[in-house]
Amino acid sequence: MEIKTIGVVGAGQMGGGIAQVSLVSGFHVLLTDVSGPALDKGRAGIVKGLDIMVRKEKITAADKDKMLDRLVATTNLSDFSACDFVVEAATERRDLKLTIFRTLDGVVPAGSVLATNTSSISITAIAAATRRPDKVIGMHFMNPVPLMKLIEVIRGLQTSRETFDATMELSRRLGKEPVSANDYPGFVANRVLMPMINEAVYALMEGVGTAEDIDSIMRMGANHPMGPLALADLIGLDTCLEILKVMQEGLGDPKYRPCPLLVKHVEAGYLGKKSGRGFYTYPKA
Ligand SMILES: NC(=O)c1ccc[n+]([C@@H]2O[C@H](COP(=O)([O-])OP(=O)(O)OC[C@H]3O[C@@H](n4cnc5c(N)ncnc54)[C@H](O)[C@@H]3O)[C@@H](O)[C@H]2O)c1
Repeated sequence: MEIKTIGVVGAGQMGGGIAQVSLVSGFHVLLTDVSGPALDKGRAGIVKGLDIMVRKEKITAADKDKMLDRLVATTNLSDFSACDFVVEAATERRDLKLTIFRTLDGVVPAGSVLATNTSSISITAIAAATRRPDKVIGMHFMNPVPLMKLIEVIRGLQTSRETFDATMELSRRLGKEPVSANDYPGFVANRVLMPMINEAVYALMEGVGTAEDIDSIMRMGANHPMGPLALADLIGLDTCLEILKVMQEGLGDPKYRPCPLLVKHVEAGYLGKKSGRGFYTYPKA
């Protein structure tokens, strides 16, 4: 299958990043979200990302303009009839993703792959919501997308070899290094990462250390580039909570129960960097 146009569903921090690397890699991009303001915010993030590349002399200002000419932002999902490959990066909620995939299935050409950037939700269940389950796959980009090399590629029970090969090849064309994982809640990356983040929130709740001290200890003591609480803020505390819930329900082990302090932050709207406040506070972008 020849891929020229990539559709991206969700113009948040991940969707924006996926659209950006797709543009930089020469693809046409259709980007959708629920509202004009959400799309404007996503587009502004892409422009900002490309501006950084111009400043670092990785691309020229003329390259940037050409890339932006290849970007179409639309709230009309029927425009996705032009897509050769779609990556869904909407909010981490199972019911929402199932609805989006049902809709995409009716709009996107039958031969095109529908990938999801879900952090934890069953690829097998998402695939089963479509009439092309063999063409559905997990394509789990890391945050921030332009900087992080890895894509975790997850096969659902129904995913075909052809879909897997096409996704691995596309990942490489996007300048990334794909690694495959099987379809269990949280796959590999979050199965290992989220218990650590959750435990750091418990340590904060129980007063074992301040947020700064917990993060400093893990940065210097475990040689992590950033501490678990700062990382949770970067990921989004709402996303962390949803991933933990999926793992708790799907694996049935109480060790994945979300820390009450994490729940409280999400209830307060303290979602991390994207909302200006999480375990730390951030200047408005
Ligand atoms: N944040 C991370 O570090 C990270 C890393 C890897 C994967 N992910 C996954 O990527 C996905 C998106 O996460 P994010 O951090 O970009 O979240 P985000 O909150 O920044 O963005 C989500 C976007 O989806 C949009 N959206 C909601 N419903 C929609 C719909 N019906 N159609 C189109 N758009 C819709 C929202 O308006 C929002 O703009 C989630 O599945 C998440 O688990 C996140």
